[in-house]
Amino acid sequence: MMPEEFLSVFGGGDTPLYLAPQAGVSESPFRRLCRRFGADVVVSEFVSAEGIRRGDRRTWEYLRFDVAEHPIGVQIFGAVPAAMAEAARLVEEVYRPDFVDINFGCPVKKVVSRNGGSGCLRDLELVQAIIRAVAGAIEVPTTVKIRSGWSDALRNPVEIALRCQEAGARALTLHARTRTQMYGGSASWDEIAQVVEALEIPVVGNGDVWTGADALRMKEQTGCAGIMIARGSHGAPWIFREARAALDGRPAPTPPTVPERFAVMLEHARNAIAFERDETRAMLELRKHLGWYTKGLPGGKALRQELFAVRSLAQVDSILAGYLERVGRGDVLAAGADDVAGTPVPDAALVVV
Ligand SMILES: Cc1cc2nc3c(=O)[nH]c(=O)nc-3n(C[C@H](O)[C@H](O)[C@H](O)COP(=O)(O)O)c2cc1C
Repeated sequence: MMPEEFLSVFGGGDTPLYLAPQAGVSESPFRRLCRRFGADVVVSEFVSAEGIRRGDRRTWEYLRFDVAEHPIGVQIFGAVPAAMAEAARLVEEVYRPDFVDINFGCPVKKVVSRNGGSGCLRDLELVQAIIRAVAGAIEVPTTVKIRSGWSDALRNPVEIALRCQEAGARALTLHARTRTQMYGGSASWDEIAQVVEALEIPVVGNGDVWTGADALRMKEQTGCAGIMIARGSHGAPWIFREARAALDGRPAPTPPTVPERFAVMLEHARNAIAFERDETRAMLELRKHLGWYTKGLPGGKALRQELFAVRSLAQVDSILAGYLERVGRGDVLAAGADDVAGTPVPDAALVVV
């Protein structure tokens, strides 16, 4: 594929910025917000091919997206080529995403034990069979997301990536850690550079981009075609604006003030209600994001305790307004500076991938 074609398919502009697929995080309400802050491309949470084929209602609901989210990729996982092909075809037929991404990176036991996600990385024949089956079943491009390998002893990102390219992947994202590393250590950007060097298809770099400056460093060190951000976007969708400024050589935009941050939280809450329709359910799903947005604020711990109990938009609104009022009176600071580390966000809803 020519670079121009890649850019037109995947978001246009120089070095498209991707919101990473993230179970429990890159849901439609957050994807819309990230698009507004400059993410050029978004990817859904991973969705099980079996769930899609079974017609599982909740799975199909996860797949919904808003037109404002385009360009969007739907990510699927599974270990049976024919089932993956069927799932991809159904998703394309019903939702018309811009591309279908295959997850070869998920390290979670439940997925890996059935050979899904990074489990496939131990069997490159299977990886290729899955890509061929999916690419042959759909018209939109098939892309893949891989880790650097299964373990330190089986660390072979270039080999995996070449096999993916050969099987028909039109773009590849490398999260440059092995499965056994989970999130430990640091992502090897050298490996991203090696894969960029070896492949003809566009390579999207992923791992440890926490600031706009990191995005620029990743681009300079690896020559990657695109940059994908996951954890750096938590409670900070404006990271995409910062990354774009850094890549363009512009000064870093001023970080949002607390009232601006709160306005984003309310926008996120409204997006969530529009998507879920059931306000209580929307607020339950939003709680972890509310926790992230308030990390590091003075008096943040007490604020989060209030926010973790919300069931309606009106409650979020009044808690945030109350906080700003207390800040205005000086009460918050009097209560002691917060916890920059923050209270752990309830993560029962998160699958760590
Ligand atoms: C909560 C969470 C959920 C994730 N879910 C997925 C997923 O569904 N599919 C996937 O390919 N990667 C998933 N990942 C991995 C990220 O896409 C990304 O590869 C990884 O976090 C490294 O990028 P980062 O350093 O920018 O966080 C997830 C990561 C997190 C933190």
